[in-house]
Amino acid sequence: TSPAPKQWMIAISILIMNTVIDLTVLICLHHRWFDWVYSKPDAMGEDYRIDPWSSQQSTDYQRLIQKFGLEPLDLSSIPNPNALHRRGIIFAHRDLDIILNSIKNKTNFGVLTGLMPSGKMHLGHSMVIEQVKWFQEHGGDVNVAVADLEALATRSKSLTEGRKTAIEEYIINYAALGLNPNSTNVYFQSKRPQVQRLAFTLGRKTNLSEFESIYGFQGETNLAHVQAPLIQAGDILHPQLEEFGGLRPIVVPVGVDQDPHLRLTRGLASKTNWFNIKNRKKGGLNVALSIQDDNSEALGISSNGALISENRNIIFDKIKSIISQVGFADIFPNPKHGTIEIPGATSREKFVLRNELLKLERNLGGMGLMPPCSTYHRFAVGMTGDKMSSSKPETTIFMDDSIDEMSKKVKRAHSGGQATVEEHRRLGGDCSKDVAFQYLEFFFATDDKELEEIRKGYENGKILAGEMKQICIDKATIWLNDLSEKRDEWSGRIDEFLANDSY
Ligand code: TRP
Repeated sequence: TSPAPKQWMIAISILIMNTVIDLTVLICLHHRWFDWVYSKPDAMGEDYRIDPWSSQQSTDYQRLIQKFGLEPLDLSSIPNPNALHRRGIIFAHRDLDIILNSIKNKTNFGVLTGLMPSGKMHLGHSMVIEQVKWFQEHGGDVNVAVADLEALATRSKSLTEGRKTAIEEYIINYAALGLNPNSTNVYFQSKRPQVQRLAFTLGRKTNLSEFESIYGFQGETNLAHVQAPLIQAGDILHPQLEEFGGLRPIVVPVGVDQDPHLRLTRGLASKTNWFNIKNRKKGGLNVALSIQDDNSEALGISSNGALISENRNIIFDKIKSIISQVGFADIFPNPKHGTIEIPGATSREKFVLRNELLKLERNLGGMGLMPPCSTYHRFAVGMTGDKMSSSKPETTIFMDDSIDEMSKKVKRAHSGGQATVEEHRRLGGDCSKDVAFQYLEFFFATDDKELEEIRKGYENGKILAGEMKQICIDKATIWLNDLSEKRDEWSGRIDEFLANDSY
């Protein structure tokens, strides 16, 4: 007997309902409408941070640029670019145009770098020095911070150990790499009270919440560790103090892992500024007073918050005269609001104007600090595929490795070659995975044309993986021998690099 029509109806409607549900689920999946159900937090999502003390490193440079608002480096803007510029290894910057302008106009600028005196100096550390050298050759005075306080705080190195490591491992190699002692000043964080005082003063402009969001510091974070970034901000800004060269742009070349410190420092510097210059929406610039505890009187605000017209007018007259000296007659001052609009000004005049306003701020008793400029380099891969680290000797080459040690490391390093010679000849090698090739590119090959030929030879299978390693070993041998010779020349003369206050 056939089933009753009623049962048929139920069966068919269940079938239809199931189909509809299935289709809906499929459509949702296709449009990722319920991503939130199964999504894992994105590695570079909202709370992504760079940890400057971590042994991990992000190498997604494009996203780092986006996430942290770095500017990509424009090679055509760099005069006499060095190999790291030409090969795209220095890939981003903040405000580098200010330094490039100083180079063009032959006006003063400084370079600041720092070293953590723990462990041995390796190839990775030499990249910053190559950059410092380039800035030095283009007129910058060089300041090197020995981060002995940071090493004490974060690596448990005593100040005595730190001093020894700094001189015998790092500074001797900086000399050998070609820094010029005539315009280099090496100092120790622990021996420069001006740096510590500045760190302390800047501490008033930040708080634990900001440190949590930049560095992920938590309740259990050691307080010495909390102080380290403030000391680094002191390092970066102190060359602008009168006794260390005065107001001038300072550039800090770093690996991208140090950018959190630069973000912090830029923020701190601008929070101390008495005058803020912003681009107007409709074009032109807008100067605004920034009233703070220690400047309110001078800027025309009394302790009870009332406007002191007399003081306000004095300060406005000074600003107006600066603006007219810079060349603008068409301005709209609003003393009550503490703002002055300059519709005709462009970003080009912004720097000149800011410079003059910083001078005014200094005359009136403020610090007059400029935010630091910076450049960022990519990291060379570790020889094992991990991050380079002093504590893992097999991941890198130390500046004083013997030729034998170096050769062994290169021979064991990751290769981008194919499994068999036949396959390699047919498919070619992969330079992007080949440590030997990358070490040529980052460190040992001086000639771009030769490097290109090596790349092509590898990719079309003419050069085998073993041959690539041998090329690397040969060039590294020259490089290391040269460095060791130069170290000998400089030994006993390191004092020439040390600042007077480092004894
Ligand atoms: N924090 C840096 C490091 O870990 C060392 C350092 C201290 C530094 N002060 C600096 C680096 C100023 C650049 C600029 O290596």
